[in-house]
Amino acid sequence: MNEMLTMAMPKGRIFEEALELLRQAGYSLPQEFEDSRKLIIDLEDEKLRFMLAKPMDVATYVEQGVADIGIAGKDVLLEEEPDVYELLDLHISHCYLAVAGVLGSAINEAAPKIATKYPNVASHYFREQGEQVEIIKLNGSIELAPLIGLAERIVDIVSTGQTLKENGLVEFERIAEVTSRLIANRASYRLKEQRISEMVERLSKIINK
Ligand code: PRP
Repeated sequence: MNEMLTMAMPKGRIFEEALELLRQAGYSLPQEFEDSRKLIIDLEDEKLRFMLAKPMDVATYVEQGVADIGIAGKDVLLEEEPDVYELLDLHISHCYLAVAGVLGSAINEAAPKIATKYPNVASHYFREQGEQVEIIKLNGSIELAPLIGLAERIVDIVSTGQTLKENGLVEFERIAEVTSRLIANRASYRLKEQRISEMVERLSKIINK
């Protein structure tokens, strides 16, 4: 039986690389993906439904079962720890999580403030280091925080390093490497195993080329 498979796709920087990968794997995704603002796109021929979501929300859709599978950054998986299967490292959108700040800034405060979009990752990291910190959760433009005195350091994604550089910040420590992963809802994986495995196989062939 060839039932509909629903996939949550992250809009934003992962999006284009994810589309490219799916196209290389033989899925003929229409230009509509790039051009329209539609949030649900069906590929009737492939029996595939795509949901275009915020990257931070993909794992939630998959965990809740409204999407069978999805593409999520390892950063989101580390932060949210969703109860999903991580099926495949897609080796796209490579970047890393790092601690950064202003070079030579006072870092000997009793409990320095750390601004981040990743409060769980940051808390876990500093606990492991045995350092007491105060986490300040922000939703973006994290690099602003040390420049305006909101935090001593930040924990954020570094890709090209351009944002740090242009804002006079330096990287202190690398926390974790990040790539995008194919994830699956646990029940869907049992119920639609054949369809999901077929996609894993098609994507694996391209990744391992
Ligand atoms: C991410 C991240 C950094 C930047 C790193 O932000 O939070 O700010 O990209 O990329 P770079 O090393 O190539 O400069 P994003 O652009 O996703 O926006 P945000 O500030 O709203 O989180």
